[in-house]
Amino acid sequence: MTEGSGDTLTVIDNRTGRTYQLPISHGAIRAADLRQITVADDDFGLMSYDPAFMATASCRSAITFIDGDRGILRYRGYPIEQLAERSTFLEVAYLLMNGELPTKQQLDKFAYLVVHHTFVHENVKKFIDGFHHDAHPMGILVGAVGALSTFYPEAKEFTDPVNRRLQMARLIAKMPTLAALAYRHSRGLPYVYPDNAGNFLNMMWKMSEPRYEPDPTLEHALDVLFILPADHEQNCSTNAMRSVGSSHVDPYSAAAAAVAALYGPLHGGANEQVLRMLREIGSVEQVPAYVARVKDGEFRLMGFGHRVYKNYDPRARVVRQVAETVFKITGLNRLLQVAVELERIALADDYFVAKKLYPNVDFYTGLIYEALGFPVEMFPVLFAIGRTPGWLAQWEESLLDPEQRIARPRQIYLGQPERGYLSLEERGHAESELAEPPDKPFGGD
Ligand code: CMC
Repeated sequence: MTEGSGDTLTVIDNRTGRTYQLPISHGAIRAADLRQITVADDDFGLMSYDPAFMATASCRSAITFIDGDRGILRYRGYPIEQLAERSTFLEVAYLLMNGELPTKQQLDKFAYLVVHHTFVHENVKKFIDGFHHDAHPMGILVGAVGALSTFYPEAKEFTDPVNRRLQMARLIAKMPTLAALAYRHSRGLPYVYPDNAGNFLNMMWKMSEPRYEPDPTLEHALDVLFILPADHEQNCSTNAMRSVGSSHVDPYSAAAAAVAALYGPLHGGANEQVLRMLREIGSVEQVPAYVARVKDGEFRLMGFGHRVYKNYDPRARVVRQVAETVFKITGLNRLLQVAVELERIALADDYFVAKKLYPNVDFYTGLIYEALGFPVEMFPVLFAIGRTPGWLAQWEESLLDPEQRIARPRQIYLGQPERGYLSLEERGHAESELAEPPDKPFGGD
């Protein structure tokens, strides 16, 4: 959106009667411009209050475009449907980082770089060994990604562009290795080294054969499932990456925060919850009763709804197509019928229609992951592999943006005014041993 020079917002402060003209650029006013609106000389100035960033842009970005009302998603201008159909994950990673699709030569060079950084230090395996046998792989991933910062201390010199790009390629390369290590650990299976052919599925599934050879159609399906979540502008985990990165910590530490944010069930953990939900529902006959409980506010329908999409999530459409291809080979996932019925009932129900709740990317991905043989705990890990190039591209863009500084929101203080300290004796006697914890509703995303 572009505006002419006359685009301004006129604000009348009814407390003082004063009028202010605030410039509008790209459909936004600058919140800092509100600070000139004061009622006294020592007044900090007017702030905007926006918990959960419902209407606040935290950056200007050239990476990903979303039109949530029309269900459009583009990376660097390219529609997600075209990238999913025609690109590889590595091409998309290159695109997100560089702004253009690579030439054949650029792609070969990038692929060589990534593939030659898939190995992890032997000590990484040792500390993964230290995790409990049933540790959730996302918990392991948070720790392992953060720990990479100790193996590559030079990563904090990110102002050097060559070094920065090396670290970015390194993290993209190591994510599948760390993911496979986490899985093999949870199964008590020997770790499988990367084979410089970039074969994630070999690291996952190899047993006694010399090399696990995946079905190329299934391998391609997984590649598409990495492309679809590769970036999604300022979502919770990307916001964490940018925010933590704004303290100028190294990219591994910032990415560990992003993985942690992704772990939550309202974000990347939703795909795991969808499958658990479908298993709980169990059969098509049980769907109406389950939907009724959602409408009663007992719990949310996992894999439904989105902060930005108020229409069908375009990624969910592609996922449905991928599901068809995969199920032709693996056979139908018995929970597919439950999912289809759930979608059918929800999309025809006033509750979901009025709130514009449509299936999101996580609704069908779990069924495909399961058909490919992944256990549910691995679903968010697969999401993390896909999202890594987006996190890194956004992190770099943020560091190169002269307007960005350390992320530090303001708050509105509602607590006690200043008061004098009371000694233990002066505090009186409480009824219960511990103060009651506050009981508040939990919001989303
Ligand atoms: N099931 C039932 N009701 C819902 C759902 C849902 N899945 N999602 C939102 N609502 C209702 C919500 O109760 C609220 O109703 P009311 O206005 O009466 O209070 C209204 O819809 C708006 O919801 P919100 O919580 O204000 O919306 P949000 O933008 O803060 O949250 C969300 C977005 C994705 C967290 C939420 O839709 C949700 O919890 N979905 C289920 C979890 C999920 O599938 N997450 C994956 C998101 S896509 C991939 C990703 O981000 O990683």
